[in-house]
Amino acid sequence: MSYKMILVDSTEPVGLITLNRPEALNALNGELMNEMTQALRGFEADENIRAVVITGSPKAFAAGADIKEMQDMNYVEAYMKDFITANWEEATRCRKPIIAAVAGYALGGGCELAMMCDFIIAADTAKFGQPEIKLGVIPGAGGTQRLTRFVGKSKAMEMVLTGRMMDAEEAERSGLVSRVVPADDLVDEALKTARKIADLSLPSVMIAKESVNKAYETTLQEGVMFERRVFHSLFATEDQKEGMAAFAEKRTAKFKHK
Ligand code: CAA
Repeated sequence: MSYKMILVDSTEPVGLITLNRPEALNALNGELMNEMTQALRGFEADENIRAVVITGSPKAFAAGADIKEMQDMNYVEAYMKDFITANWEEATRCRKPIIAAVAGYALGGGCELAMMCDFIIAADTAKFGQPEIKLGVIPGAGGTQRLTRFVGKSKAMEMVLTGRMMDAEEAERSGLVSRVVPADDLVDEALKTARKIADLSLPSVMIAKESVNKAYETTLQEGVMFERRVFHSLFATEDQKEGMAAFAEKRTAKFKHK
């Protein structure tokens, strides 16, 4: 498939999606989101891909949903086409790990897209924000919910009510990003991290991702029980035998399910 708004590199074992709409700071319009949905589905189906990185440009990961595209939309249109839900949530459906590599602006839907990924590595130039309030609306792709879970109520509330941006250092301190790296190293660092994950047993990786995500959706007791059961299930895999034997024999594990 050929894409117009994104670049897709499926060099094994990591899939890389680069948002590529520089004239609009990677504003996320319907066409771009459709293309990203297709690319993510392709990576999910490709057994050679074991981790995914989504990035933007040095100036902008994405400056939000495309304001010009939605400015004339009315309520009935928004409701009837289920605006945002339809082609925005593919990243949350992927079972393989996805890293957001963010440089520059990650605003509105850009910040929300980054938060839909499994973790965020930020360049020291990154700026995060939910400025929708300044447009007379509110975040519409999960920002009020996910940002609150990442950084807590007080900071999320301040950001959503004022629209102020958070720099990379504050984002790391608040738990929004896993770490900050120099801007020039961002994509290499994210790919290196993705390759490290891709080198592990894919069933363990996918189950680990499912377990961490469970923490958002359930009580502590139920989450711990879920973890316990899937932990038990991994003893049925050849990769558990190989991983533990390799440790005991002081060698590198050669996982079968990669
Ligand atoms: N939608 C559409 N176009 C956008 C855009 C967006 N979200 N963000 C930037 N652009 C366009 C600008 O209109 C401009 O295009 P033209 O050259 O044709 O005028 C181009 O990108 C460059 O932008 P600026 O000239 O504004 O660049 P800047 O460096 O001066 O400012 C910025 C950068 C602070 C990010 C500024 O562009 C900005 O504030 N953008 C909007 C951010 C925003 O409000 N995002 C939330 C969108 S709503 C949303 O996302 C809803 C949701 O929850 C899903």
